[in-house]
Amino acid sequence: VPVEAFDLIVFGGTGDLARRKLLPALYHRFAAGQTPGDALIIGAARRRMDGAGYRDFAREALTEFVPESHLKPDLVEGFIAMLDYVPVDAATEAGWAALGRKLKGREARPRAFYLSVAPQFFGQICERIGRGRLVTPETRLVVEKPLGRDLASARALNAQLASHFDEHQIYRIDHYLGKETVQNLMALRFANALFEPLWNANHIDHVQITAAESVGVGERGGYYDQNGAMRDMVQNHLMQLLCLSAMEPPSRFDPDAVRDEKLKVLKALRPIEGAAIDEEIVRGQYEAGPDGPAYREEAGDPESRTECFIALKIGVENWRWAGTPFYLRTGKRLKARHTEIAIRFKDAPHSIFGDSAGALKGNALVITLQPNEGIELRLNIKDPGPGGMRIVSAPLDMSFGSGAGDAFRMPDAYERLLMDVIRGDQTLFMRGDEVEAAWAWIDPIIAGCEEGRAPPAPYAQRAEGPMESHILLHKDGRRWREIA
Ligand code: BG6
Repeated sequence: VPVEAFDLIVFGGTGDLARRKLLPALYHRFAAGQTPGDALIIGAARRRMDGAGYRDFAREALTEFVPESHLKPDLVEGFIAMLDYVPVDAATEAGWAALGRKLKGREARPRAFYLSVAPQFFGQICERIGRGRLVTPETRLVVEKPLGRDLASARALNAQLASHFDEHQIYRIDHYLGKETVQNLMALRFANALFEPLWNANHIDHVQITAAESVGVGERGGYYDQNGAMRDMVQNHLMQLLCLSAMEPPSRFDPDAVRDEKLKVLKALRPIEGAAIDEEIVRGQYEAGPDGPAYREEAGDPESRTECFIALKIGVENWRWAGTPFYLRTGKRLKARHTEIAIRFKDAPHSIFGDSAGALKGNALVITLQPNEGIELRLNIKDPGPGGMRIVSAPLDMSFGSGAGDAFRMPDAYERLLMDVIRGDQTLFMRGDEVEAAWAWIDPIIAGCEEGRAPPAPYAQRAEGPMESHILLHKDGRRWREIA
């Protein structure tokens, strides 16, 4: 469905995110006919450059980050024609009057300010947007992580944004929410009557959420070391996946109804403090190996105690989930890039087939987010053929990416999210109270991990994380699914 004509101002318009993600995403939506040709996209950054310079910058970004088969010269030129540039400085008056002039007379359109800059500039930019009277009734503000590094800083940031924008104007991006399969999880749960009666502790043994990466921290080592996997991946992406898996059905698919339910999950998480930290949390750091140096070397600190792998056992304290743990893990330099949510149902109470048929495995519903998006339901079936009654586990498989021809391309998360910003749909964006609730749960865990505990356990590259992560499930008589 096409969106109406809009103005988008990207602060940090010459940065890495704009180059790699935002400009390509906007191009794809334009090429698909979703954005009108008279949209105005203004890059705004400190670098001195004019509109023509920015159009060249964008052309290069598209050549680098859009698959060649999707680069059609007339579409590229049509898209490029919508771009403009204003040099602005967040810290001074420079450029702000010029930006105001570009936007004058365009107040009726949806207008989005995308802050693709470090959070220490959010305050100054919001202040100047406000002072320049650039906020119209149809204005939205887009921000992205890091949204604080603990509860106090997240609160301060929310307060800062709130002094210039209403909550309904603020779009906090978590790019995991834009991934197609994440949205499919909601469709699966709430558009089918099949699963919901089973979606609780009576029928589900446990849930596993894995976000494995094969890359290391590489050049981001110095920055990453200040944060670690808990702040970088768990507080945002994994918490969101947990919320969508665990939440009650909202009464409508509308932004506040959905976010109210996610918030309730965050508030129901059992605190992990004191001795529970040793019992329920495993942290790791990769050693040197075939893909590169050790984490500590890349982090530039031979004594670093920051984790680049973490596994957690989480309890959701409500009637639906009491007794059914959620196990989460994420890490760098693991065996493969693979992100999935696996719902493991309870075993059949009794096998009528006898020992010779083999053990019956509990059913599993596996939602794969990447690299091959799809949903798989593992069922027990008879091993085909005349070999007698042997039971084997086999998948009912629904892969989204395959078989759809060369031209098929899964839209990137930013494509969906940017169009939602223009449409004014906040459903897939985090509300301020959700961000705070996630930090409120995470803060004591980080504090506990820093409190004189052993440093993260070393693990080999191209494997599945430290042995302790396997023990975490083994203690409960369970095991992780293989990272493949
Ligand atoms: C980012 C993290 O938010 O998500 C990165 O900062 C991580 O460390 C990335 O690599 C993973 O995103 P995706 O979409 O590749 O799973």
